[in-house]
Amino acid sequence: MPEALLGIAESAIDTALVNAFVVCKYVTGVDCGTTLTNLTILAEPHAFEHDHSFSREDYMMSYLPESAAFSDNQNFNASIFETSLDVLEGSSHVDYEQMNQIRLQREALSLNATRPGWFLESKPIQEFEAGFIFAVMGDFNLPDYNSTPTIRVDWWKYWFTNESFPYELGWHPPTVPRGAAFVLSASSEVLAAQVTSTPAPLVSGAVGMADAPGTLNKAGETTTYQIPTFAPYAAPGVGAADKRDVTTTTEATATAVPLKNPYMQTLAPSDIAAQQAVATSLMSSLSAASS
Ligand SMILES: *[C@@H]1O[C@H](CO)[C@@H](O)[C@H](O)[C@H]1NC(C)=O
Ligand SMILES: *[C@@H]1O[C@H](CO)[C@@H](O)[C@H](O)[C@H]1NC(C)=O
Ligand SMILES: *[C@@H]1O[C@H](CO)[C@@H](O)[C@H](O)[C@H]1NC(C)=O
Ligand SMILES: *[C@@H]1O[C@H](CO)[C@@H](O)[C@H](O)[C@H]1NC(C)=O
Repeated sequence: MPEALLGIAESAIDTALVNAFVVCKYVTGVDCGTTLTNLTILAEPHAFEHDHSFSREDYMMSYLPESAAFSDNQNFNASIFETSLDVLEGSSHVDYEQMNQIRLQREALSLNATRPGWFLESKPIQEFEAGFIFAVMGDFNLPDYNSTPTIRVDWWKYWFTNESFPYELGWHPPTVPRGAAFVLSASSEVLAAQVTSTPAPLVSGAVGMADAPGTLNKAGETTTYQIPTFAPYAAPGVGAADKRDVTTTTEATATAVPLKNPYMQTLAPSDIAAQQAVATSLMSSLSAASS
């Protein structure tokens, strides 16, 4: 189904889906079996959820009073998304270098806007997500689509803002579904892309070719936090045919899939730290290989 509707091949979907089960066990302390009734647990901060999102606030924004436990790290936030798009200065498409610039700007803003000591850089996971955006919103009308896809900005905006597919803008699911290999290759290209200007302040190691992997939670330092319960974001109205009805969506299942991290390594489901360590080292070798 995801292949036909989203243009993402099963290999990439499974990778993402299975992570939900990993986080579920991490958060609840029990094996969540093979069925998830909701994806709220993915908002557990600093697990696969990460700071410097393209479109969401971080969990501990510094503008909050000390008494406020957390901010909304789940729902789409238009002003955060705008700080991603700002980088493009009106460009109609996003290439790998621009995506790396967006990432750097988000890191700089996020580092400034979170409570001291909270910010963690999370390049592998964010760039895996960037790979999904290149996969789904890559402009298939352009001649270089197969070799160097670029994201069509109006499609991306529509997708995130309306939480719906931009059919009315000429989009359709990619004809050849993109799998994990494409997503990993695009994320690696993004991180390896040389940028022309960098916002300040930046976390050390955030810039450069073959750059050092990001700062992820280290073994033994992970801890669980209360997951926020904010009212869901209400996307501006779009045609009913374009919207998925969450009330009738079947439950997510991942019966036949071994537990894997975003980099396709099989590890103990509860071991987030080991998952992240593997992601970090693989990202590092991917970056080195592409430079
Ligand atoms: C979502 O799923 C988790 C894990 O199964 C569960 O602990 C939580 O209560 C669920 N939340 C809602 C709103 O159903
Ligand atoms: C969106 O994020 C901005 C910047 O952190 C914040 O000021 C604003 O309150 C957020 N909007 C919503 C609806 O949460
Ligand atoms: C972060 O804050 C510092 C100090 O206020 C400021 O100089 C810098 O421009 C800010 N960076 C960004 C990206 O806003
Ligand atoms: C959201 O959908 C509406 C109605 O289809 C459309 O007019 C609007 O331009 C879309 N928003 C974005 C940001 O593309």
